[in-house]
Parts: sequence; C-alpha cells; structure tokens
Amino acid sequence: MAPALEAQVQQEEQSLPHNNNFYNTLNDATHRSKVTVIGSGNWGSVASKLIASNTLRLPSFHDEVRMWVYEETLPSGEKLTDVINRTNENVKYLPGIKLGQNVVADPDLENAVRDSNMLVFVTPHQFVEGICKRLVGKIREDAEAISLVKGMEVKMEGPCMISTLISQQLGINCSVLMGANIANEIAVEKFSEATVGYRNNKEVAERWVQLFYTPYFIVTAAQDVEGVELCGTLKNVVAIAAGFVDGLEMGNNTKAAIMRLGLREMKAFSKLLFPSVKDSTFFESCGVADLITTCLGGRNRKVAEAYARNGGKRSFDELEAEMLQGQKLQGVSTASEVYEVLSHRGWLELFPLFSTVHEICSGLLPPSAIVEYSEKLPRSF
Ligand SMILES: NC(=O)c1ccc[n+]([C@@H]2O[C@H](COP(=O)([O-])OP(=O)(O)OC[C@H]3O[C@@H](n4cnc5c(N)ncnc54)[C@H](O)[C@@H]3O)[C@@H](O)[C@H]2O)c1
Repeated sequence: MAPALEAQVQQEEQSLPHNNNFYNTLNDATHRSKVTVIGSGNWGSVASKLIASNTLRLPSFHDEVRMWVYEETLPSGEKLTDVINRTNENVKYLPGIKLGQNVVADPDLENAVRDSNMLVFVTPHQFVEGICKRLVGKIREDAEAISLVKGMEVKMEGPCMISTLISQQLGINCSVLMGANIANEIAVEKFSEATVGYRNNKEVAERWVQLFYTPYFIVTAAQDVEGVELCGTLKNVVAIAAGFVDGLEMGNNTKAAIMRLGLREMKAFSKLLFPSVKDSTFFESCGVADLITTCLGGRNRKVAEAYARNGGKRSFDELEAEMLQGQKLQGVSTASEVYEVLSHRGWLELFPLFSTVHEICSGLLPPSAIVEYSEKLPRSF
C-alpha cells in the first residue's frame, strides 16, 4: 500500500471508538458479541472472511462466525456445507479463497442464529422475506441486524426497503452496509471503501464499523439508512443501462453520460421517496463510487452487455443461468420494482432512464433505445 494511504488507514483505525463504556462492557467475556452471517454467496462469503478476521482479533467478539448456507449438492455429490467446513473454502461461490478457520458453515437456519446478537443479512433480496418468516421468534430479543442486500420489495402499500422489511418482520433495528464493493476484489484484499448507514444509534453503527473494518476495507458511518440503501439498490439499474451501452459499443462518453443521468435519477427518486435522504450520502462510497465500479465491472453490466450484443433475442433469465453459475442478477428485478413504483405514483416521465431500462429488459424497446430518450429528459430535478 502507498505510504500516504497507509498513514490514512492508520489514522482512521486510531479514530475508531475503543474506550467508551459500550466497548468496556463488551470486553467482558460474558458480554461478547456473537455474529451470524445469513447467506453464503459471493459477497456473503467475502463478508464472512472480513468479519472472521476481526472477531479473532477483537476480544469483544466470540471468535466463531456462523455462516448460514442455503444447502445444495455439488456435482461431486457432496453437500456444499460439508465442503466449506472441510476445505475452509466456498468452492461454488468463492473458489480459491480461505474464509478463516473460525467460519463455520451451517445449513440449519435456526441453529445458525442461536445465541447470536449480531445478524448480517447477505442473500439475494428475493429470499429475505422468506428467511425472516422462518426466523420469527427464533432470534435474541437484543439482536441487531445489518443488511448488505441490494434491492427492494414492492408491496400494495408501496416500496419497502430490505432493512425495513427485516426490522418489521423481526422487531429489531437494522442498519445497512453498501459501497463500491465487487466481492471478488475484496476477497483478494484489494483496497476499497464502504458505508454503514444507520438510523439513530451511533454506538451501534460504530460496532458494525469495527466488525467490518480492515486496513484494506475502510468503513465509515452515515446517519441515513434509506439514502445508503437506495444508492446500493438503484445503481444496479444504471449498471444495466451501462451494459447496454457497452454491448452496442457506444464508447466512454456515452457511458459517462448514462452514469451521470443515472446518478441524477438515483438522487431524485431517493428524495421523493424519503425526504430525509441527505445529498452528502451520494458522495460516500455507497453513492458515486459504487455506481462507478458497478458500471465498469459488475455482473449486471456484464449480462446486460451480452443481452445487447444478442439484440435482445436471448432473455435475461437464460443469460443469467449461463453466465453467472448460480449467482443472481439484481438489476433487472430492481428495474421492474422501480417501474412499478413510478407507474403507481405517476412519476414515469420524471425518470426516463429508469423507465427505459425496464422497458428494454421486458422486450418492449430494443437495447438501442437506451440513448433515444434524451428529448424526454425532465428539465429540472
Ligand atoms: N457479489 C458482489 O460483488 C456483491 C457486492 C455487494 C453487494 N452484493 C449483494 O449481496 C447480496 C447477496 O449476493 P451474493 O453475491 O452474496 O450472492 P450470489 O448471487 O453470489 O449467490 C446467490 C446465493 O443465493 C443462494 N440461494 C439460492 N436460492 C436460494 C433460496 N431459495 N433461498 C435462500 N438463498 C438462496 C445461493 O445459495 C447463493 O448463496 C445481493 O443483494 C447482492 O446484490 C453483492
């Protein structure tokens, strides 16, 4: 690491909270926090690795990190959980990376959360509600949750962020962690940053920062759960648009324009839904940085590029199954959920990029339409 960066990292580590009563209590062995990671895909596995390095180092946490695995049988006939526990690697979703000997994979959800007071949710968003239903009455009353999940649920009464869904279903507080975090890059310890979004309790936010923070993964806290979560969710829609631009070989200027328009719609949509969302959040890692990395390198961009190269003739479902080997695409379903909100509220004309992405994904428009809406751009946001 460059000396200037190293100095900054050291300074930030020193500024982390260590001496208040909250931490002194937690240093007592009887009050040690126990962490469960709910999910074991690509990001879930990397999150477990990050967390496990810290629980070993910090006395206020139990060493062991439980990782709930949605069980599957590998082509070898072995159960994924057994292989993870034998090799210390998630051979399907994060091959070649040791998770840490203190990560224990567990296919039994109820057992995995038993006695844990820090629950890390990191599954594709479509599975969260079902998981929460199974957890009702099974978790500690004093548990805190954090969601690394990108996406939202659209219900009769309106859009529901995943952190709200977790809070409502389980009756616990839920923070979020989002950022420019392509999992495979963090897995090999390349430097990156992330943002913890919290509601009221700064001590809880600092506790999450401590759990994730490493010299190569710099985490800062922002008091804006909805803003942080919406940034992480909506940038996947913009990444689909960026993929269309790549597939049509339109070049970097066009892609930069799409990213700018996308950021503008992300901010406008977030503020219309939640007036409390702060402008400053869009300049945190969860905002512009995540947007850039996802439009340059993420899986949503990659599959959308293939969709455009095939002239929209192969479906996203088919391309996802072929290109991602079990990993899930979030941008297409998020575009559909956002579209539902826009049509329901009469906002379609205010968000030409978001609506065009959905109309392309659902086959109503060709991929080239991604740059054909410019005359429809609203004059002000
Ligand atoms: N991968 C990344 O780079 C990255 C980075 C930041 C955030 N995220 C977000 O993290 C979340 C989880 O993504 P990921 O990359 O860890 O997963 P993934 O897409 O790599 O893997 C899919 C996971 O879903 C599980 N699964 C399949 N069917 C299931 C079911 N019926 N019930 C429960 N689980 C089931 C699979 O076992 C697997 O663990 C997503 O919201 C994603 O947007 C991912």
